[in-house]
Amino acid sequence: MKILLVGKNGQVGWELQRSLSTLGDVIAVDFFDKELCGDLTNLEGIAQTVRSVKPDVIVNAAAHTAVDKAETERELSELLNEKGVAVLAMESAKLGALLVHYSTDYVFNGEGEDYRCEEDIPAPLNVYGETKLAGEQAIIRSNPRHLIFRTSWVFATRGNNFAKTMLRLARDKDTLSIINDQYGAPTSAELLADCTAIAIRQERVNRDVAGVYHLVASGETTWFDYANYVFMVAKSQGEKLVVQNVNGIPTSDYPTPAKRPLNSRLSNQKFQQTFAVTLPHWKKNVERAVVEILGK
Ligand SMILES: NC(=O)c1ccc[n+]([C@@H]2O[C@H](COP(=O)([O-])OP(=O)(O)OC[C@H]3O[C@@H](n4cnc5c(N)ncnc54)[C@H](OP(=O)(O)O)[C@@H]3O)[C@@H](O)[C@H]2O)c1
Repeated sequence: MKILLVGKNGQVGWELQRSLSTLGDVIAVDFFDKELCGDLTNLEGIAQTVRSVKPDVIVNAAAHTAVDKAETERELSELLNEKGVAVLAMESAKLGALLVHYSTDYVFNGEGEDYRCEEDIPAPLNVYGETKLAGEQAIIRSNPRHLIFRTSWVFATRGNNFAKTMLRLARDKDTLSIINDQYGAPTSAELLADCTAIAIRQERVNRDVAGVYHLVASGETTWFDYANYVFMVAKSQGEKLVVQNVNGIPTSDYPTPAKRPLNSRLSNQKFQQTFAVTLPHWKKNVERAVVEILGK
């Protein structure tokens, strides 16, 4: 099997380089690559890459993920999250190839307290969410052979993310104020990459599994409780943290350019049932990542 991986150096892309390697020949590209165009904003270039590689599967881990910046970078966000994705969808459809893509909890407006299912109506609150939703729709329109994984609160030992920022701040500051009214599930890039490989393998024998899935770790938390868990693990590893007071604050006390959903709970039942996978509690992978980040 020949797999074209776009966005090989992001949190998820990096882990995919590992997990996809057991499935076949992985041709991995990024936007600065010289030989093959991996720049998703270069629509002709990325189409050429697909045409010359002729993959059986395309996995797209590239995206404009800077949620606040996207508010003032709508054009770039549309290019990366929608138009580039649309090209991958059209080109993969022409080849009869499977397209695997990641989307986000931010396609929902975060009202209520229920877990969102795949059939629930999206209503994004910000440019990032809007453009990611448009990307999903472009795929669904052009290539029925797709797997779209909506995920949330992604972290990894590589790249920048909330857990790493919290560790850095806790070594520096006596008091931290952290949002306590947004709910979701921190999901590791490692888990996403492993589950992606499992799903691709199953799609090869049963194309009926194509569709949209919520792929997140089990359980739920707030940023405040998540941070406290990170600190607890770090301390249990003998890490010296300066932080003494960790205060929970409402979202309204921390204004950001992009509005964020309060309820990012996604039901992962469909993924677990379809692919016969157990999605572990978020704490398991957070603990592993913190230990690794600390180099213990
Ligand atoms: N991070 C989250 O919390 C989160 C939550 C929900 C869903 N997701 C989705 O999960 C997927 C993977 O996210 P992630 O956390 O791995 O994001 P990430 O670490 O930000 O990776 C995105 C990658 O895309 C690359 N990229 C930027 N511009 C590009 C271009 N023009 N052409 C090709 N690649 C380009 C980035 O490169 P540079 O770093 O060099 O710019 C980066 O390597 C994305 O679809 C994202 O929307 C993420």
